[in-house]
Amino acid sequence: MKILYAASEALPFASTGGLADVVGSLPQAVKKELGRNSDVRVVIPLYPSIREKFSEELELIKEITVKLCWRNQYCGILKTVRDGVTFYFIDNEYYFNRKFLYGSFDDGERFAFFCKAIIELMAAVNFYPDVLHANDWQTALSVIYLKKKYAHLEEYRGISTLFTIHNIGYQGIYGFELLKDIFDLDEWDRSVVEYNGCINLLKGAIVCSDLVSTVSSTYAREILTEYYSSGLHHILRDISASGKLVGIVNGIDVDYYNSETDPEIAEHFSADSPEGKVKCKEDLQELCGFEIDNEIPIIASVSRLASHKGFDLVRHVMDEIIEKNKVRFVLLGTGEFELEDYFVKLQNRYPDRVCIKLEYNKALSKKFYAGADMFLMPSKSEPCGLAQMIASRYGTVPIVRETGGLADTIKPYNEYDETGNGFTFCNYNAHDMMHVIEYAISMYCDQSKWAHLVKNVINTDFSWSVSAKKYIEIYETIV
Ligand code: GLC
Repeated sequence: MKILYAASEALPFASTGGLADVVGSLPQAVKKELGRNSDVRVVIPLYPSIREKFSEELELIKEITVKLCWRNQYCGILKTVRDGVTFYFIDNEYYFNRKFLYGSFDDGERFAFFCKAIIELMAAVNFYPDVLHANDWQTALSVIYLKKKYAHLEEYRGISTLFTIHNIGYQGIYGFELLKDIFDLDEWDRSVVEYNGCINLLKGAIVCSDLVSTVSSTYAREILTEYYSSGLHHILRDISASGKLVGIVNGIDVDYYNSETDPEIAEHFSADSPEGKVKCKEDLQELCGFEIDNEIPIIASVSRLASHKGFDLVRHVMDEIIEKNKVRFVLLGTGEFELEDYFVKLQNRYPDRVCIKLEYNKALSKKFYAGADMFLMPSKSEPCGLAQMIASRYGTVPIVRETGGLADTIKPYNEYDETGNGFTFCNYNAHDMMHVIEYAISMYCDQSKWAHLVKNVINTDFSWSVSAKKYIEIYETIV
């Protein structure tokens, strides 16, 4: 089977969030399952940071011109191979030589160009996949172009499409004045992308793809409701009723996130010999400028500072939690100004109990995952969530709200039969969260029970093996 993954980011090359983790590990897992008789490739844009860090391994294999309406744009195709998976990088400095991956005024045009380039790449390198697996709104147009502009061509006719929604909140919404001039679509394609009076690229891909997936089964159910759908529930209910929507929970790269081998943590440890975690905790306390006291539990959060991540709950009760309990709170992440401001002030109020690092830093995040005792993720919505799984790999016990992938991956701890792999609460309510945090703190005081829980947590299987098989089943169905 031949599969081409298209996305706007992939680890280790470029990353702003969970999408990059998935695109940097699912293809390898699928390749491993399918073995020799498969050809698995990935395509992402060439951002300047990739050129800087990976220039030695990248090879320029083709230079073509990509047409986007009246524009004729240069398109360099670079390539590298990792674990048997070929990665292509689309080079055009006008579109991608920017400081940030997203957030430019012309993102619509940038990713329309990228999507055209994905389709043209197939001809340029003579690789017509059986499945084009596109991800999120930035690659939505590749599915739309394939169905609406290329399907009449013999070579493209046999390509099936899977479109994965990693977060329904980001849809690629534009005014109709861009239909022809920027998106290079025709007037008769208007109804394909139209939603609520605007161009909605995500909706277009939902309609045009053979199958739509999202990243957990709970989220696949949740987005049928108005509360979670960001306005798309009508169309999603339609496709769900006809069996075109599935939920497959993400895995993580368990070799990369491995407390037994990770070069970035202070000391290695495992479920059976957890002693090294104490050293990691001391390392984190030093990093945060705390006095070393291993008896005080540390709650960590590593997250984009966006309101849907549940930080309004944290804001509501964190002072109360800190004042009432012997606990420390550490946070790593960047995002909305209001939240950054709140957390800096929280740190100023409790400098010996709270440490806030406003950074997106993968290496530092490992020290947070490994050094903390509990990991807080009270998301309002969470399509899958990876941090709860990553934290678990380092024996840090997740405290999550039961939504999306959090509900699918974390089962509540039961102190009587000592089952479960975390602490959970159901309603989006600050005091519900607070009570669960306080329950977790009280369990932490019972060292033998806690040690057993940590063992459950590390031993939970978050590898791709089960989900990669499910993806392969889907690919086979649509092919
Ligand atoms: C998005 C979602 C997150 C998910 C990730 C990978 O970032 O918000 O929940 O884990 O995509 O699918």
